Parts: sequence; structure tokens; C-alpha cells
Amino acid sequence: MPGACQDRDVADRDRKHARHAAADRARRAQRKRTLTWLIPAGVVALAAVVAVALVAAGGSEEPPAPGSAEELALGEEVFGRRCETCHGPGAAGGLAGPPLIHEIYSPDHHPDSSIRAAVARGVQPHHWEFAAMPPIPDLSDADVDAVIAYIRDVQREEWGGDRP
Ligand code: HEC
Repeated sequence: MPGACQDRDVADRDRKHARHAAADRARRAQRKRTLTWLIPAGVVALAAVVAVALVAAGGSEEPPAPGSAEELALGEEVFGRRCETCHGPGAAGGLAGPPLIHEIYSPDHHPDSSIRAAVARGVQPHHWEFAAMPPIPDLSDADVDAVIAYIRDVQREEWGGDRP
């Protein structure tokens, strides 16, 4: 009986369609649930990243207290990055620059203002046979203060109590 057979086929197909449609609906609902959960989670994660970035940026804007361990650490870091290639490790002198622990650089002969001027404007050769020191104008005031503190600290360490 072809008619009955066909009817069963049609019924089968309808049931399959119904099952598929239900499965589709379930999947869509699941996807929607996942999205409604993911979007706030994404917003929270983004806010956390922004907060951390703000704290990090704010932290570096705040200059370390004068004379603090933080300032010396910053000064040592800046010196290592921007001065050491010429003035040598520990400011003890290098291939392209004089030792800043030399007595002519004591605060009596070269006050802090002359270090500041050297960094801002560079130095024409006058004491030594080296080439000129180029200006290093991109350092922040806090970086320059810190590098001065560091240079004075190595000088004190070098000279002990007997300042030249
Ligand atoms: C490219 C090499 C070079 C770099 C980098 C460099 N210097 Fe110099 N610096 C020199 C030379 C060379 C002299 C000496 C010039 C002279 O007196 O003949 C000098 C001199 C100085 C003086 C003495 C200035 C004066 O009035 O006589 C100071 C202070 C100084 N440098 C600090 C620094 C600091 C701080 C940094 C890093 C932020 C730095 N230098 C980076 C080459 C350099």
C-alpha cells in the first residue's frame, strides 16, 4: 500500500523536523545565555585592564620622594640605560665619557645644576679628550632628579667622608 507507506514517511519526516526545530531552539537559547553572560564578563575584564593601566600610569607619574630608596633605584636604572655606555658602570668612566666620580665633579665644582644642564643641553669637550656629550632632553624631571641622586650617592660611596 503505497499510500500508508507514504503517510508513515511523512509522519516520520514531521517528527524529525519537530525534533530538529526543538534542538535548534535549545541551541539558540544556549547561545543567547552564553552571550548574555559573556558580554558583562568582557566589560568587567576590560574595566579591570583599564584600571590596572591607570594605576600603572599614575604610579610612574608620581615622582619618588627625594633621597628615598625608590629614587636611588630609579636613578641607577636611568643611569644604566642612558649614561653608562659613556660614563661606565658605577659612573667610574668609560670609553666615551669621563668618570663622574672624578673629584672635578664633586658638588663644589659641579653642583646639581651643572648635571641638569649637561643632560638638557649636552657638553662641549672641555675637561677631557672625549667627543661632545649629546643633549638627552627626553628624560623627565623625576628621571633627572633621580640620576643626580644616584651620581651623588656613588660619589659619596667612592669618597667616603672625605669629599674632595
Ligand atoms: C655619548 C656619550 C655620553 C652619554 C650617553 C652621556 N654623557 Fe655625560 N659626558 C660625556 C662626555 C664626553 C663628557 C665630558 C665632556 C668634557 O668635559 O670634555 C660628559 C660630561 C658630563 C658631565 C659634566 C658636565 C660639565 O659641566 O663638565 C655630567 C654631569 C654628565 N656628563 C652627566 C651625564 C648624565 C647624567 C648622563 C645620562 C643621563 C650622561 N652624562 C650621558 C659623554 C656622555
